Amino acid sequence: MRDSTVNSELESAAAVLQAENQEKPEIILQAENVGKVFPGKEGDVRAVDSVDLELRAGEIFGLVGESGCGKSTLSRLLLRLLDCSSGRITYHGEDITSLPRPQLQGLRRKMSLVFQDPNTSLNPRMTIYDNLARPFKIHNLARGREEITVEIVRLLKSMGLQAEHMIRYPHELSGGQKQRVVVARALAVDPEIIFLDEPTSALDVSVQAKILRLLARIKQEKDLTYFFISHDINLIRVISDRIGVMYLGKIVELGEVGDIFSEPYHPYTRGLFSSVPEPRPERKIETVLMGEVPSPVDPPEGCYFHPRCPEVMSVCRSKSPEFTIRQGRRTACHLFEKD
Ligand SMILES: Nc1ncnc2c1ncn2[C@@H]1O[C@H](COP(=O)(O)OP(=O)(O)OP(=O)(O)O)[C@@H](O)[C@H]1O
Ligand SMILES: [Mg+2]
Repeated sequence: MRDSTVNSELESAAAVLQAENQEKPEIILQAENVGKVFPGKEGDVRAVDSVDLELRAGEIFGLVGESGCGKSTLSRLLLRLLDCSSGRITYHGEDITSLPRPQLQGLRRKMSLVFQDPNTSLNPRMTIYDNLARPFKIHNLARGREEITVEIVRLLKSMGLQAEHMIRYPHELSGGQKQRVVVARALAVDPEIIFLDEPTSALDVSVQAKILRLLARIKQEKDLTYFFISHDINLIRVISDRIGVMYLGKIVELGEVGDIFSEPYHPYTRGLFSSVPEPRPERKIETVLMGEVPSPVDPPEGCYFHPRCPEVMSVCRSKSPEFTIRQGRRTACHLFEKD
């Protein structure tokens, strides 16, 4: 028998370890200084510019920003569907920035993608069975038609669909049913992370809520991590644990959703949030976004937001702001470098 001092020492050591674990959530995926440049007719498009972020196990990370700011490109870089022009991506600490093709195949089983529009994600000339059978065949996850059928029926049922949907073509299904099939296909490989790129914005409002509830249930059941892209700021507010705010290819603010929504620091975040109808008008933050988003072919000098910023200072016109970290929140703005 151990004496009581040893026991209490063990207990306190365990408590410290537990506290440390809580403080340091497991990082699954990490982007360091990641950039993507697309060659264009009028010059190079800097779609993603020096992005740093990490995805933590079990969280919903919400990404917001205006159209064209690079949200989809960033998710494709993280998924390794696109090659980075610069920077580094690690998955469970392993560098995956330039993995050769055979190893990429293994990664494809760990991360799935659900696009906005089920009409373009499903092959219209294939039945639902054939659409869903593809991941099983590509990844050798089931042998023969019989085994694949069993898996597909299981998936369809877990999505609230029936086995008979298998023999239909996508055009015979409603928008919501098609998106359920797309989610089913994303789940076929039993992934760890699902990237959801505006997964409900092509659907009717009544269907959106059902798909969101379904996504929430699956996340719990399968212990998934979500990278959730949406224009809908109110939606991002209710579903996310942490959020990143993106402007012209850069993340300008990143942190816990509650902190950022209760007090957005970055003038762009404030402007973005103020464009959303506020259910409690007394909380309305008066920063209106003025002017157009500059072209990613020729971004402004210094802080990319400075031509539209109501709080612009001279340093903003010449120097790109670094992230300032305050209580776990990162903000890339010269206003916060001062104090
Ligand atoms: N394959 C490509 N070739 C050239 N430019 C591209 C390509 N893909 C994206 N871009 C450009 O990169 C920038 C970022 O595009 P992206 O689609 O990532 O934005 P987004 O934030 O997802 O927009 P949205 O909210 O409209 O979906 C845009 O200027 C876009 O025109
Ligand atoms: Mg997009």
